[in-house]
Parts: sequence; structure tokens; C-alpha cells
Amino acid sequence: MPRILITSALPYINGIKHLGTLAGSMLPADVYARFQRSRGNETLYICATDEHGTPTELAAAEAGVAPSDFCAEMHKVQYDLGRKFGLSWDHFGRSSSPQNHRLTQRFAQTLWEAGFIEERVTQQVYSLADKRFLPDRYVIGTCPHCGYTAARGDQCENCTRVLDPADLIAPRSAISGSTEIEIRDSKHLFLRQSLFAPKLREWIEGKKGEWPLLVTSIALKWLDEGLQDRGITRDLAWGVPVNAMDWGANPEGKLPDLAGLADKVFYVWFDAPIEYIAATWEWADAVAAEAGLEPQDVNWERWWRLPEASDVTYVEFMGKDNVPFHTVGFPCTLIGVNERRDGEGRWSVVNNSPWKLVDQLKGFNWLDYYGGRFSTSQGRGVFMDTALELLPPDYWRWWITANVPESQDSSFVWEQFQAQINADLADVLGNFVNRILKFTETRFDGAVPADGLDGPLEQKLAKDVAAKLAELTEHMEAREFRKSTTALRQLWVLGNQYLTEAAPWTALKTDPARAAVAVRTGLNLVALFAKVSEPFIPFTAEIIAQAVGESFPGRWPQPDAALDILPPGRPVKAPEVLFRKIEDDQVAEWIARFGGAEPVPQPA
Ligand code: 2FM
Ligand code: ZN
Repeated sequence: MPRILITSALPYINGIKHLGTLAGSMLPADVYARFQRSRGNETLYICATDEHGTPTELAAAEAGVAPSDFCAEMHKVQYDLGRKFGLSWDHFGRSSSPQNHRLTQRFAQTLWEAGFIEERVTQQVYSLADKRFLPDRYVIGTCPHCGYTAARGDQCENCTRVLDPADLIAPRSAISGSTEIEIRDSKHLFLRQSLFAPKLREWIEGKKGEWPLLVTSIALKWLDEGLQDRGITRDLAWGVPVNAMDWGANPEGKLPDLAGLADKVFYVWFDAPIEYIAATWEWADAVAAEAGLEPQDVNWERWWRLPEASDVTYVEFMGKDNVPFHTVGFPCTLIGVNERRDGEGRWSVVNNSPWKLVDQLKGFNWLDYYGGRFSTSQGRGVFMDTALELLPPDYWRWWITANVPESQDSSFVWEQFQAQINADLADVLGNFVNRILKFTETRFDGAVPADGLDGPLEQKLAKDVAAKLAELTEHMEAREFRKSTTALRQLWVLGNQYLTEAAPWTALKTDPARAAVAVRTGLNLVALFAKVSEPFIPFTAEIIAQAVGESFPGRWPQPDAALDILPPGRPVKAPEVLFRKIEDDQVAEWIARFGGAEPVPQPA
């Protein structure tokens, strides 16, 4: 049995996420995890909050609390919202966990001992007004590549280039707005990514055709531009401390300058991906505690370390801005953390690392709001908390999955959302389930009828359903979510068409056995829909499964037995209306409340 390890990009702790974040990682990862579980594969879906770095310090300062308190609170908020959206994480960890501290420090130490990390004196932006260094987002200025005037010191939001604060033109402090800035020396650790370029190129080239084009082209563009060594430490207080560990000597016999590295922490992009592994360790500790076992009794390394993990397929989900860090940064760490040396005791990047690299990387474009960006600061667009105040989670899950920005950016537009929800969920799926179950209740004593034999109509349906189900399964295996929702919708439509043609309400008057066949077939379609809709709309799928007495979550059906699920005589019961149509006045109100119609001005 294959094992599937799934991670979705770790949401930053600073604030409630909007629908774009759900679309770009967490929701598709969940849909895929649910699918894999229902296929019977041992599946582990790991996510966590990304808690370090300047955005956290800035948000905590704005809230007037310590970063640790801010993170503890926001982790709980994000966890609760994720659960309300049905995100079926096996573990939702925290990058500030003790496990991540230990693993990040251990990885850094091993990379140092291997000679893949070196010390450099760098020029950092120092604010005279704030009396401190201003790393990353603490500096705002003009992007030297595209001229965007509100670029942040770590990455330009407009052209997605990764930046160094000292690159910004006309820099100013994000704390005080002060432009009284000077450049001062500060010692930092650098990961020598340039050493890894040939190995990374070979690896990425091998993924062409297998990974989405978006992903391989972003990765290769980075490599083509020449891989830069990256500073992996920062002049910050909140994070994984650099000098709180036992450093060993590097191949030249040198220890790092610990005094010079006091008061520094690892860069958030160094420790955040390591949290994928550390969160798996957190998961194991939690499972052990729950079962009354010792921590070492639940083995997390079997998901990550070769050779034990060689039967694991590791699948990552993320937005396109995260791709460089996952195709270059994190792989450098993992390849370099090679804890086996060669015969002469030397480290080298061509050795095989015991750590598992990503097998499948699904990257997404942006989900926009009326053609512009969702904006936290302008309160533009819909956020996870408010979304759930308006409508149940399955409405959002369905629309997002059906419109996920796979091959290009896509846009949330209220009118289109309304039209699609009303058509797909209310008219097609909801109507079908209610129609057949109500009829069974009133005319067949609320039980699956036993009479009659399948005719040509049922044989044709079985063939069509088998073909469509095979198509859906194939798209899900390939993580093609738009195609998957199209196939699922077509499966629902097949059910409606069948029922219209078989018309048990008419047949009942002349040929009761025929009507019984149609009702039995219709009820089996309901059971089938519950199973195959579960990854997409789990809350509704559970109600539908209960209505026909099926356990939940069920197993993904085999195409040749897709309409052979319910035993005759099984009692069934019509649920309450599954989906209420979204009305025009609701849409008008939501546009007024969240913004709509006029496109958002884009960065220059
Ligand atoms: O872009 C983001 O939202 C980051 N917090 C993603 C981190 S993914 C991983 F590496 F931790
Ligand atoms: Zn730019």
C-alpha cells in the first residue's frame, strides 16, 4: 500500500487568511488528502502556522502583545477556522514548537559541519530612529527590478523577485516610517546554495512534464539567473536562536563566531519548511500522548528519512510565490543535511541525503478578487471567518475547487459564484438527492426497492457512470482539480438525466417493477455521489451518506460496482434541503459590504 505525505504551504500567523490562501494551498491539499484516504492509502496531511519573521513581530507590535502570546492566540484562531472549513489535517502544528527549534538547529549545525554554511559580514539596514536593524519587511522602498514603490525588503509583491533590504531604493522603516537609515555591518550565516546548483538543475530537469509547467519554469528561471548564497540568519529577537546550541567544527576546523551571532535568529524561510518535518514529529508526539505511549513509540522518521520512507510519495501544495523556496531553498537544506560522510570523512553535495525530497509539487497561480488582489489592509475580498458567517463551508469549498487557479490566475466574482453554486449544488446535486429520496419516502415506504431487473437504460447508465468515474479518478490522481470538479458535475448530471428519462413517477402507474428499478438505481446514485463528493463537499456528503444509511467517510467506489452499493430493503430518509439558492439581494448586499464591480488598482 503506497503512503502519501501531503503538506500545504504553512500560512503566516499574522492574521486570518482570505479565500486566496485557501485556494492556493490548504483546500486543494485537503481535497487530495481526503481522496487518498478514501482510496485506502495511508495518508498524512501536515500543516502548521508559520510563526517567525518580521511579519509576526510587526503584527504582534501592532496588537500590543508579545510575539509568543500573539502566535498562541492566532494559532488557535487559524486552527478553529480550518476545522470549520473541513480541513482534515492530521496535524496542524506551529513553527515555533520545541521540535522545530531542535530540528532547525540540528540541520544548521550539520550544514555547518559539512561546510555548506559560512559566516559573512554583511551590510544591513539600520534605523537610527528605531535604534535597531531592520531586516526583511521592516524596510519598505522601491523595487530595483520593477519600480513598485511599496516593495518590502524580503520580496517584491509585484514582480515576486526575492530582495535584500539593502537593494531597495528610497528605503524607509516599516516601524516608524523614518528614512534616517544607515547601512551597518552585521555578521550572518549563509547557506552556500550556489554549490547545489548542478544537482538542483538535474533534479528539476527530471521533473519536466511531471510537475506543472508553472513550477518547473519558476524553478529553472531561478537557476538560470544564477543561484545566490542565502543569508539564513536575521537581527531579530523572535525566532529560533542561533547561538543556543552546540556547534561542531566545519571542515576547516572552525567554530562559528558565537559571540558575533548572539541576538540573532534563523531566517523564517530557513525554519518554516523544516517545520513540515518538525510538525510530523509534533504529530507523532501527540499521537503517542493520546495513546498513552512513549514519544519514541510513534515513528515520525518513517515519513521523512530514507530508506524507511522510500514507499512514501511526498506531495506539496503551494502558491507560485512559494515555489522558489520549495524547489531551491528547502531542497538545498535537505540535500546538504547529509548525515553520512564518505570514506575520507568529507561531506559533499553529490552524496545521497537520507531526507526525502518532494515527489510531486503542485503550484498554483493567484486567486484574485474582481481581477485585483485580496487585501487584508483594505479589507477587500472575503476572509475565512466572514465567509463562514455568510454561507456553509461546502459552498466555498466547491466554488474554490472548481475555479482553482491552475493554469492561470482566476478571479472571485460574486455574480459568477452565485450562478455556479445555484446551478451545480442547488439545481443539479441538491435537487437530485431530494427528488429521489422524497419519492422513495412517499411511494416506496422509505426503503430501497427490491423488485425488477435492470434494463437497457440502467445498462447504459452503468457504462456512462463507470467511464465518468474513471475519468474523475484519473484527474484526482493527477491533482487536476478543475477537471475533477467538471467530471464530478457531469456525474451528477448523468444522475439527473437518468431520473428524467426513467421517470419512476410515470412508470409507477403502469409498470411498478420498472419504477422500482429506477428508484433503486437513483438511490444507488445518491450513495455513489456521497462517496465521490466527499473530498470536495464533505459536510454535505456526510448528510447524503446518512440519508441512505452509508458509513462516512466511505471508500472510493470501483467503476464496475459504482451502482451496486445499497442492499434492497435498506431504509432511507430524505434530508432537509441540501443547498439554499443564493438570492440576488444577498449578492447585492455582499458586493456592497466586501467591494466588487470596480477592479482593484494593481501595483505599477
Ligand atoms: O507564503 C506564505 O504564506 C509562507 N508562510 C509559506 C511558508 S511554506 C513553508 F515553507 F513553510
Ligand atoms: Zn518588483
